[in-house]
Amino acid sequence: MISKADVIARYLPAQLTAGERGEAFAPSNIALCKYWGKRDQALNLPINASLSVSLAHLGSRTLITPSADGVDHVLLNGEEQATGSRFATKVVEFVDLFRRNSVQPLTIDTHNNIPTAAGLASSASGFAALMLALNDFYTLQLAPEQLSAFARMGSGSASRSIFTGFVEWQMGQREDGMDSHAVALNACWPQLRVGLVKVATGEKKVDSRAGMQRTVESAHLYQSWPLQAAVDLEKLHIAIAGRDFNLLGATAEQNALSMHATMIASWPPLLYWQPESVVAMQQVWELRSQGIDVYFTMDAGPNLKLLFLDKQQAEIESAFPGLEVVAPFLHQQCTADPSFTDAIKEA
Ligand code: PMV
Repeated sequence: MISKADVIARYLPAQLTAGERGEAFAPSNIALCKYWGKRDQALNLPINASLSVSLAHLGSRTLITPSADGVDHVLLNGEEQATGSRFATKVVEFVDLFRRNSVQPLTIDTHNNIPTAAGLASSASGFAALMLALNDFYTLQLAPEQLSAFARMGSGSASRSIFTGFVEWQMGQREDGMDSHAVALNACWPQLRVGLVKVATGEKKVDSRAGMQRTVESAHLYQSWPLQAAVDLEKLHIAIAGRDFNLLGATAEQNALSMHATMIASWPPLLYWQPESVVAMQQVWELRSQGIDVYFTMDAGPNLKLLFLDKQQAEIESAFPGLEVVAPFLHQQCTADPSFTDAIKEA
């Protein structure tokens, strides 16, 4: 079995050159066709390809500087994280994959502008921003696909946060996983909106890594998941190419519910929903029965992410007071090719 460090080492110079600072922003992303299940635990290689939309200016910004007092410092939203805490350990472990035996201690300062009230996971944007900041700090000049493959080693969904707009994470075939990276789709949809419905924000008892492993190992229903995901991926490509919003929304909603069905069929059962999640789902279905085109998707948590078009924003906001609305394509050059995340560094 190949380790993360072995794979990464092949792409690093023999001697690292550290700069004065490395900085990057990466957006959060919401999968319309989910990643659920790994074929390789160590490298985070997926059983199925997935497709997401990045959340524009909502995400993580990471600044890396040499640390003056001889020890590493990890900060999150301005607060120093204790050495050995879950967050600091994950960050330092990831940095060590690149720093290797270089002894230079660093200060790694991350700010998430995802409203904490939105209950959105930040590991995708966090690892993507960290990867981009390392690339900047050590002047690694890695290609976008390599950055995506390496960010994947921090958290699978981080592979997609290297890019803006619609993004597909190709599952790849290689044992070292270097063909398992995301690519940006050449498509822009300025009218598309994502609404974040907060149900609960506390830390979940079973994280996605443990949740997907449990599902793969214990749910017979999981057998059908790769097929469902392959069909949905195809439908999403058709929906995006033809700007068919109802096909996009219906596919994303069915995909999310299918993923949750596999979780519920695991043992011990895994149900991330809260009673309020079900109330919100029924509200979405009620709005649809009234002719309002709104759909939802959900990840490994109780919160809903609504999908709709700008023309129905007002109605949906009045049905879901306090909804955080994101326009994934609003500030993009819709005539140009999809931009690489670094292009929105100043967002
Ligand atoms: O990247 P991870 O390991 O946190 O897994 C993400 C899993 C889902 O959010 C449920 C689906 C996805 O594709 O983002």
